[in-house]
Amino acid sequence: MEPLDTLGRPLHDLRISVTDRCNFRCTYCMPKEVFGRDYAFLPKEQVLSFEEIERAARAFVALGVEKLRITGGEPLVRRELPTLIAELAALRTPDGRPLDLTLTTNGAALAALAGPLADAGLRRVTVSLDSLDDAVFGAMNGVDFPVARVLDGVDAALEAGLTPVKINMVVRRGINESSVVPMARWARETGVVLRFIEYMDVGHSNGWRLDEVVPAQELIDLVSGVWPAEPADPSYRGEVAGRWTYLDGLGEFGIISSVTRPFCRDCTRARLSADGKLYTCLFAVAGRDVRAVLRDGSSDEELVTFLAEVWRARDDRYSELRSQSTSDLPKVEMFAMGG
Ligand code: GTP
Ligand code: 5AD
Ligand code: SF4
Ligand code: SF4
Repeated sequence: MEPLDTLGRPLHDLRISVTDRCNFRCTYCMPKEVFGRDYAFLPKEQVLSFEEIERAARAFVALGVEKLRITGGEPLVRRELPTLIAELAALRTPDGRPLDLTLTTNGAALAALAGPLADAGLRRVTVSLDSLDDAVFGAMNGVDFPVARVLDGVDAALEAGLTPVKINMVVRRGINESSVVPMARWARETGVVLRFIEYMDVGHSNGWRLDEVVPAQELIDLVSGVWPAEPADPSYRGEVAGRWTYLDGLGEFGIISSVTRPFCRDCTRARLSADGKLYTCLFAVAGRDVRAVLRDGSSDEELVTFLAEVWRARDDRYSELRSQSTSDLPKVEMFAMGG
């Protein structure tokens, strides 16, 4: 059974947030002025257990999901994460194939965990890194976390074979624009795939302004002005990043342009938050309560039916409508939904 939503889109990817906590306070995600010491994160009993996550993932796989991405908050702060990875790595599609199992991390704990995660069956990782300059990066991550420790994590991921390692760089006008070319140089030399992300108006705390977005075209011009590049075909239908390959053969870079070139038409992603809410769009104002279904004695079949109904009713295309959006409701925060 592979349900289509109201715009004919299948359900192929599930992003699973395993915690709403994070050891960083990125200005564009969890500004420390808002998420201070006394901020109340989810209490343990509200967070899905590994058993519940695995059961939910199995139901999603029955509906056509072929890719699982573990997110947070920062997923590596969830205790025993390799145990969950091992459970998810054992899942198979209805025709017997393993899933694309991956994770998006800030890299802080990756030097220690890359090996155990790879051993547990994780296939690849994406690491967020916004600059190679400690002053710029420290200000953006909000806790003065040093670049070198993230680079150690990237090295560990490469060594553990969690490849291709992708790097996410959120670009903000006037803040880390000057890091774009150095980051591209480093990625080419290191053999990682750098993706530039347009700063997005997710959540309701980051004080987003359109004039802080560096448009995709400007980033493409900047990088290809130094190392000529040409557009490449997507690696799969609905790939979020547009791909550009360098003409000299030294790899590729990606552009995630949710603001200037929305990609909702092919959006096949669902998001499950740490407290078991199902969101059908990154910019949702509300989710559906999967945890309740997991905890009320429903059968696996009933769970699958519930998820299929939510997906069939889906009509989200926020990025395409952004300029016309009139809702005053606060959007769910990125770290709560898993990015
Ligand atoms: P790949 O499997 O490697 O292609 O990963 P991905 O690009 O789907 O995942 P990742 O977690 O690295 O996401 C990169 C950025 O794209 C993050 O900032 C996400 O929030 C953003 N992103 C991912 N999916 C969507 C989406 O459906 N809509 C929007 N607007 N942004 C998204
Ligand atoms: N705009 C764009 N990207 C963001 N991320 C977090 N907040 C934002 C935002 N406001 C990125 C993180 C991470 C990914 C999951 O989302 O840097 O790489
Ligand atoms: Fe943490 Fe990632 Fe949000 Fe930064 S973007 S505060 S690392 S969850
Ligand atoms: Fe998908 Fe919503 Fe992003 Fe559009 S804005 S691509 S519907 S998550």
